[in-house]
Amino acid sequence: MIGQSRAASAAQTGTGRAWWKEAVIYEIYPRSFKDSNGDGIGDLPGILEKLPYIRDLGVDTIWLAPIFQSPNRDNGYDISDYRAIMPEFGTMDDFERLMAKASSLGIRIIMDLVVNHTSDQHPWFQKSRASKDSPYRDYYIWRDSAQGHPPNNWPSVWGGSAWAFEPETASSYLHLFSPQQPDLNWDNPAVREEVFSIMKFWLDKGVSGFRMDVITMISKMPSFRDMTPEELKAPEYVYAAGPHLHTYLREMNDRVLSHYDVMTVGEAYGMHAQDIPLFTDSARRELDMVFAFDIVHVDRQGWRKVAWPLSKLKEIYAAAGRPRSPDSWNTVFLDNHDQPRAVSRFGNDSAPFREVSAKAIGTMLLTQCGTPFIYQGEELGMTNLPFDGLDDFEDVQVPLQWDTRVKRQGVDPDAFLESLKGLGRDNARSPMQWDASRHAGFTTAEKPWYRVNPNYTEINAQDCVSNAGSVYHYFRDLIALRRKYPALIYGTYQDQDPDHSAVFFYSRQLESSKILILINMSDRGFTYDTPLLARASLLLSNMRHRGVTQDVTWLAPWEARVYRA
Ligand code: NOJ
Repeated sequence: MIGQSRAASAAQTGTGRAWWKEAVIYEIYPRSFKDSNGDGIGDLPGILEKLPYIRDLGVDTIWLAPIFQSPNRDNGYDISDYRAIMPEFGTMDDFERLMAKASSLGIRIIMDLVVNHTSDQHPWFQKSRASKDSPYRDYYIWRDSAQGHPPNNWPSVWGGSAWAFEPETASSYLHLFSPQQPDLNWDNPAVREEVFSIMKFWLDKGVSGFRMDVITMISKMPSFRDMTPEELKAPEYVYAAGPHLHTYLREMNDRVLSHYDVMTVGEAYGMHAQDIPLFTDSARRELDMVFAFDIVHVDRQGWRKVAWPLSKLKEIYAAAGRPRSPDSWNTVFLDNHDQPRAVSRFGNDSAPFREVSAKAIGTMLLTQCGTPFIYQGEELGMTNLPFDGLDDFEDVQVPLQWDTRVKRQGVDPDAFLESLKGLGRDNARSPMQWDASRHAGFTTAEKPWYRVNPNYTEINAQDCVSNAGSVYHYFRDLIALRRKYPALIYGTYQDQDPDHSAVFFYSRQLESSKILILINMSDRGFTYDTPLLARASLLLSNMRHRGVTQDVTWLAPWEARVYRA
């Protein structure tokens, strides 16, 4: 039942169990999901139209990336009114209709809470910047050389200084992201009150929780000292180490979250994996889950895309499977609106491997420890975009990074561009590929807001839904399997062959129920023999749909199998 109190749900599900641990969550980037009114931009009625598609996949919770009023400098991650819907996306009535329809289909909706910063167009910031005497001045973080507090050497996460000078008041404000995203001053109790009130506004509308944008960065280092050269190499770790972070999260939990049966997932940018239980240990009453970045950073060093060995992935998952606190919970994700497409990165998006490898890594996603998050199009095996040059990128981050890396640090432009093609966030943001008609059925407009991947005639939802052997149907089967075998949700984790360079073989076990997951993470086929499979029965395989006969000892390229031991 959607909407019961947290206490009631805990009593019903028993210690340690919770709906959000059993959920399969689907992220929607509304701008690129489905346009219903022909303006080239995805919208809320478009999402409503596609709810049955999401429900049929087996998903029970949707994370909506920001839908609030915004000048869209960072596609909604720069909010100018937290209580209004972005007109391009629709109205509050549209939102309420979406909530009602979702609820009738048994789907919960969680919202994106972006409260480390606002847009520079938010009235709070407009008033803050207008005068040093405004009651809103202290809603943001200002440095003033004349008063002996010059800006320090902190960099924006995306490049350049984190301080922007305002001639009107001869002072500078802090922005850890773009200059159009000024950071809120969480040390001001009035700011925290505003945030709590916004959260209640949406919770009272029936939303089932929040994904919290860069929540690790809300508490700033009080001394505002310069960073050391070492710290400047990864400033996000300094930004995430503020002294009041946990106090503020606890306060948020006490004041708001504990009064609702909702889930929270914090974006733990700049956090070391070993510190995650500090957020998620239920006894600490802060957050339910966080997104850790270890997996999605496996192929990057700074701006550079690098090769990665499977052993690195195995180590990260093994560490996550040995939680430091038994009362803390993980997330599992490979894709989201900030990441290149999973199949292009962890699989192989070229023929003949795209589909089979998308299924193989989907197997990993849906059988690891933690609540899985699927990103729109991942269930179709959507791939990275082709880019010709810098002009093909839309992301606000790109010119800022280019200025810093290429213009100031002298990085080779071709090398930078090559990495950007593989790692850029725009890869995830091209419109959802619904069918083989013009603009992939995303919009009837002359031009969609961003380029459709030209491979839409081959990769699209209509085709996948009507083809029983598709990536979509395999994801559906995986989700159903996860629901059928609680070991896949609550079971312990054991890597069965940590040293193999191509096979990922692990188990999940809950009491006497043991599930074995065997994945060939490579383009090669080979013989793989293990006594563990002798009496195991096959539950699912990404080869079955293709009608290939199973030979237990031969692993085809990207073959994935799930067994009951
Ligand atoms: C993380 C969000 O996922 C990303 O899209 C955004 O640009 C930054 N936070 C800043 O809000």
